[in-house]
Amino acid sequence: MISRRYQRIILICLAFWAFLYFLYHFSGRFISDARPAQPTYRPEGGKPSSNDKNRTKEKGPEEKELVIASMSGDDTSWLDEFFADWKKNIYIVNNQSAPLTVLKNKGREAMPFLTYIIDRYDSLPDVSIFIHSLRYQWHNEDPMYDGVPVLKRLRLSHVQKRGYVALRCSWTMGCPAELHPLNPSSKSDDRSQNEAAWAGVFQHLFPGEPVPDTVGAHCSSQFAVSREQIHDKPKIQYEKIRKWLLETELEDQISGRVIEYMWHIIFGMPAVDCQDTGICFCETFGLCNLTCTEDACEKRYILPHYATIPQGWPEVGPGENGWPERGWAD
Ligand SMILES: *[C@@H]1O[C@H](CO)[C@@H](O)[C@H](O)[C@H]1NC(C)=O
Ligand SMILES: *[C@@H]1O[C@H](CO)[C@@H](O)[C@H](O)[C@H]1NC(C)=O
Ligand SMILES: *[C@@H]1O[C@H](CO)[C@@H](O)[C@H](O)[C@H]1NC(C)=O
Repeated sequence: MISRRYQRIILICLAFWAFLYFLYHFSGRFISDARPAQPTYRPEGGKPSSNDKNRTKEKGPEEKELVIASMSGDDTSWLDEFFADWKKNIYIVNNQSAPLTVLKNKGREAMPFLTYIIDRYDSLPDVSIFIHSLRYQWHNEDPMYDGVPVLKRLRLSHVQKRGYVALRCSWTMGCPAELHPLNPSSKSDDRSQNEAAWAGVFQHLFPGEPVPDTVGAHCSSQFAVSREQIHDKPKIQYEKIRKWLLETELEDQISGRVIEYMWHIIFGMPAVDCQDTGICFCETFGLCNLTCTEDACEKRYILPHYATIPQGWPEVGPGENGWPERGWAD
């Protein structure tokens, strides 16, 4: 009798010990498996922390800066009005006395953008947002071509995740195929001249890399990039691109355009980087409820007939000369 009782006690003890053992070892596994993936973010200047919990805590809101390509006299007051607490780097390309300017006003917005990347290479914010100076521009991804909602809606966490994000989703201009560098047209319009020049420039800037046969990307040289993605290329690569821009004999509208359709590749995207428009609106701008086809979303954007927005827009001009009516998209 007694020995059977002891046997049972020993068995119970063993089972309990085994239970504790498994609890200890496997609960740790389950907890660590259930933990969300760690962000790739790392605090400015620091090495990736080995302590996961600490890293999550340090993440905080993304640090961002605007990089603005401007001409002397351009009205950039809208940025102060709507984005007062965003750091702004306003490069005035045609004023050598401006606080931020360029070595030479050449190659359009490509020159200030490269200048910022080179000068700030070691002190970049989490996300740099590269834009043109004016609030209303024909290519802004907004029903009234307004840059304010574009920036307000931009999802910085998505920029950090994807690395490079165009500030545009519609395929009008640039997508799905802007250039066929290996089979260029011999016409003389800007697009064709860009196409004819593109392969040679690419080979010069990225020797040994195969020239893509098709290049497609959302127009028009406004984008956001993470620090990690900029750092994916050494500083000397950006210096090389700027040197080419300073020295090229191509006219500005061609050299600027060559780089316009190279940024996405420079920042690690495939040669054709034309995201499905609906997915793009959702991921980039958080507009996830739109009715879209692959290349356009209802009531989001119409290509205007002219590239210059009427003076006084949007108080003046909507509904006239082919310009959209005010509130057409609401
Ligand atoms: C977490 O970070 C703080 C400050 O960065 C540091 O003082 C602390 O030692 C870290 N804790 C651990 C567990 O690494
Ligand atoms: C150029 O920039 C300087 C410094 O900001 C300013 O004083 C000057 O008025 C500017 N010149 C023009 C033509 O805008
Ligand atoms: C999204 O669309 C659905 C169905 O059309 C609608 O019920 C819902 O309110 C919309 N959500 C937002 C955030 O607009």
